[in-house]
Amino acid sequence: MLLFRLSIVFAASSCVRAKRNQEEISVGFNLGISYGTAAIAYPNGTHVAVAKVGSSNEYRQTMLRLSEHPFHQLYRESRAHQQEHKRPGFPASDDARVIGALVKSLKEETEKLLCREVIAAAAAVPHFPALYDRHLYDAFKHAGLQYLEIMQRGNYDDGTFLTFETSAALAGHGLSLCTNTTDREACPRPPPDEHHNQDDIYYVIDYTDSSILAYHTIAISNDAYHITDYPAFNLNLSSDGRSREMELRHILLGPLQRMHYRVPTKAILVGNSIHDAWFRAALNETMESFFNSTKKTVPEVVESDAQFVQAKGVAEFARRRRLSPEAGSRATWNGPSGVISQQKVLMRDSYTEVTWS
Ligand SMILES: *[C@@H]1O[C@H](CO)[C@@H](O)[C@H](O)[C@H]1NC(C)=O
Ligand SMILES: *[C@@H]1O[C@H](CO)[C@@H](O)[C@H](O)[C@H]1NC(C)=O
Ligand SMILES: *[C@@H]1O[C@H](CO)[C@@H](O)[C@H](O)[C@H]1NC(C)=O
Ligand SMILES: *[C@@H]1O[C@H](CO)[C@@H](O)[C@H](O)[C@H]1NC(C)=O
Ligand SMILES: *[C@@H]1O[C@H](CO)[C@@H](O)[C@H](O)[C@H]1NC(C)=O
Repeated sequence: MLLFRLSIVFAASSCVRAKRNQEEISVGFNLGISYGTAAIAYPNGTHVAVAKVGSSNEYRQTMLRLSEHPFHQLYRESRAHQQEHKRPGFPASDDARVIGALVKSLKEETEKLLCREVIAAAAAVPHFPALYDRHLYDAFKHAGLQYLEIMQRGNYDDGTFLTFETSAALAGHGLSLCTNTTDREACPRPPPDEHHNQDDIYYVIDYTDSSILAYHTIAISNDAYHITDYPAFNLNLSSDGRSREMELRHILLGPLQRMHYRVPTKAILVGNSIHDAWFRAALNETMESFFNSTKKTVPEVVESDAQFVQAKGVAEFARRRRLSPEAGSRATWNGPSGVISQQKVLMRDSYTEVTWS
């Protein structure tokens, strides 16, 4: 009985001590398909993984829908829907409630671990045509948390100012990120290549038990904030090995073929299933045959910290935002963030290109 009491006292006092010594920390979430993750950044730039929470069936269904709806149709729909539901005490929409539930779990797990209240966080999401910053503002509100926007809003008022999971993966690995944390323009631009390009090109693959997302990602050098993605994805992979392998190959090849004239230098693997043998075989063969046929070098594979690197990247963006809240570290975008005006998305089941403009 005495021991029991003592352990409670100790647990409580360690939290009290932590509270007394409250350092400024920055919190980042990555909202994936199968799960969400949370990480923090200390002011000195050290990143720590703090939580992983599985997603609900309802959340996966919501993501599936937001990945598929035609751009314009859903945009109108969601605007109308949100206006209709904008009453005090009600979440802005059902999507906000569902996404908000995952955000809330991440908040609670982070608070439990750190013994302190989390009041604000930034978040990264998959690059889907029908997922808007409005969804995140409302989901965070639902979770009782302030949403930290990473990009600065420019003149273009109707755009989406999301932080995409590709940007987050780059930042987590310290790729295309200026080493000066308060002035993102302090880093010099690299010399242009033979085609006058100064961009960094990546092949980013997010693979979990039920989903694969593959992106051809172009980042402005030293500026992981500004990216252009060409995604392909399948969020409902078959469990049968043979069908699954076909689906994987199809998605893996899509962005490479579409953007064959901009060759990636690195393949960045994220997600909790990247060590799966089927996946590795499909990735290996896709890359070897594709780059062999185009006589290009196979990109270097980067696969460390595959589950938390994106949450850490988001925490890093949030840290830089805190160090220089008004300008300097943050990028301004006068168009929709990461979405080029004639966005071409490789749809899930075919290579049909959908052009929105
Ligand atoms: C950064 O700060 C954290 C928290 O104070 C500390 O645990 C960590 O050791 C520091 N890292 C470095 C590299 O100084
Ligand atoms: C970052 O850039 C600012 C402004 O250009 C400069 O004053 C500062 O010394 C730089 N910091 C580092 C660590 O280079
Ligand atoms: C996922 O695929 C299975 C069959 O492979 C299908 O029965 C199910 O309805 C699909 N789920 C969704 C949400 O589309
Ligand atoms: C593919 O697998 C082979 C044999 O395991 C290995 O030698 C090769 O480097 C791999 N290629 C890539 C692109 O990973
Ligand atoms: C790729 O090219 C190398 C050397 O030219 C060759 O050894 C290898 O078998 C080729 N791989 C594929 C998958 O075609």
